[in-house]
Amino acid sequence: MTRDLLLARLGDGTGLPALPEVLMRLDRELSDPDVDLRRIGELAATDAVLAGQVIRMANSAYYARGGASITSIGPAIQRLGLRALKGLVFALTLPRAFPAGSTFPTRALWRHSLAVAALAGSLCEELSLSLAQKDEAWMGGLIHDIGALALATLAPNEYQHLLDRLTQNATDGIDSEIAEIEREVFGIDHAEFGAIFLRENWRMPDPMPQVAAHHHDLGGMDLPNAGLVSTIHIVHVANGICSGFGAGWNRGCPPGKAFRNSAWDSLGLSLDRVEDLVGRAMSSLDFAETLLAGGQ
Ligand SMILES: [Fe+2]
Ligand SMILES: [Fe+2]
Repeated sequence: MTRDLLLARLGDGTGLPALPEVLMRLDRELSDPDVDLRRIGELAATDAVLAGQVIRMANSAYYARGGASITSIGPAIQRLGLRALKGLVFALTLPRAFPAGSTFPTRALWRHSLAVAALAGSLCEELSLSLAQKDEAWMGGLIHDIGALALATLAPNEYQHLLDRLTQNATDGIDSEIAEIEREVFGIDHAEFGAIFLRENWRMPDPMPQVAAHHHDLGGMDLPNAGLVSTIHIVHVANGICSGFGAGWNRGCPPGKAFRNSAWDSLGLSLDRVEDLVGRAMSSLDFAETLLAGGQ
């Protein structure tokens, strides 16, 4: 499928999922300065599967930390807090939005994205960044590769061939990057396609489309502010660490650290932190597994 055809399919939206209703409503409620916990609880309760997952997550070791067992949505939301709830609801709902393809590694992609989100959040803590920036980096991690899912949903056979080619190259010891092969096959890569999909189809405001657009190339000088640049660098580094250390979703990434040194340097992290960050990536992976298991 050509770039023009793919963009036309984005334009008419056929064959692609809409942003789940519950996420649209949740976003609206949470941006209300007089946000009301009860209303959020009612909203979460309209989706029985989601409500069950939120309660289960509130009881998980990650959030319960030895607290009493919770059986209803109100106390679950109180325990999680609105900030964590939003991330959690997105993390539980987005993997359900795209139907699992018969061959596309959907589950591995979400496991990867959740691990990148969690590690990006940890990097923000490490760098003592604001909670708002941590939220931005977390959400950026969750959605950064969504363009690959959108491409694979519209062109499943071509995407499968592309993944086979990456695997073959890796077996033959040839380094190849997924975005490069996507550009060759489709005339557009998952970063650019994901950004257009988030902006046009899901009506997500910036900065999320910008984070998706530049998570590989880091963007140019035209990015509007330093906060966005550092979010992009954080997602890029978290993506490189997760991809290189067991939480990738395709064979396009050689083992080991797979990020640009310029991104790492710009964050002011020292390279002797890599080992510790790999450890964090591994526990992020446990977190991703818990979420995905709760999401079944
Ligand atoms: Fe990517
Ligand atoms: Fe990625």
